[in-house]
Amino acid sequence: MKKNTIVIDGPAGAGKSTVSQRLAKRLHYLYLDTGALYRAIALAAHQKNIPPTNSKKLYELCCQCRISFKKMKGKQKVYLNGKDVTSALRISPMGLLASHYSKLPVVRKALLWHQRKFGEKGGIVAEGRDLGTVVFPKAELKFFLVASLKERAKRRYLELLKKDNQRSLHQIEKEIQKRDQQDRKRALAPLKKAKDAIEIDTTTMTIDQVVSAMYKKFLEKMERP
Ligand code: DC
Repeated sequence: MKKNTIVIDGPAGAGKSTVSQRLAKRLHYLYLDTGALYRAIALAAHQKNIPPTNSKKLYELCCQCRISFKKMKGKQKVYLNGKDVTSALRISPMGLLASHYSKLPVVRKALLWHQRKFGEKGGIVAEGRDLGTVVFPKAELKFFLVASLKERAKRRYLELLKKDNQRSLHQIEKEIQKRDQQDRKRALAPLKKAKDAIEIDTTTMTIDQVVSAMYKKFLEKMERP
């Protein structure tokens, strides 16, 4: 069977990560978390004290960074230059930092190449902000997941509660709102639904329901390419 490229876009907390991983597993496809690529570059820049204004140093950094994914006990780990940075990338300030660095043309250009390399052979479920519009405009199947701000904040809050969360639901809601604005308003690759993307509002849906809805669309697509 032909291996397709499936892309899943949408705002922070709409459920992209979880459902992308589940869908990839169900289809035996590779799961590509493109947000992790941006977070890894932001972390590397932060560690080396390279500000977003220094394009030359950032370009060098993007060329030098080796980012890879490995599956360990069913969980996907992210490695930056051979070091496991999975947890470091998920802490909250990294999201905002990644949002700053991801606005820069030099970073987007370098990561565009990386992302397409991962998708070269198809058989991929890629998740991110501009995948259906910019990175894989010819993807066979595109989804755009949305959910209300309140629901997205609640999900992030519950996720962080499992870790060492010190922030209130209200604070998290404000952070997500700020990131939404930042991601929507930016000049380069703003958060935008591709014309041919299927929108799914996950506000009142369980993870299983979302994955099933996507799988159904996948099967329909296979029958009527
Ligand atoms: O999906 P995430 O929260 O891990 O993404 C972190 C940041 O990276 C987010 O603020 C926007 C940016 N990003 C992007 O610009 N393009 C992508 N394809 C993925 C993420």
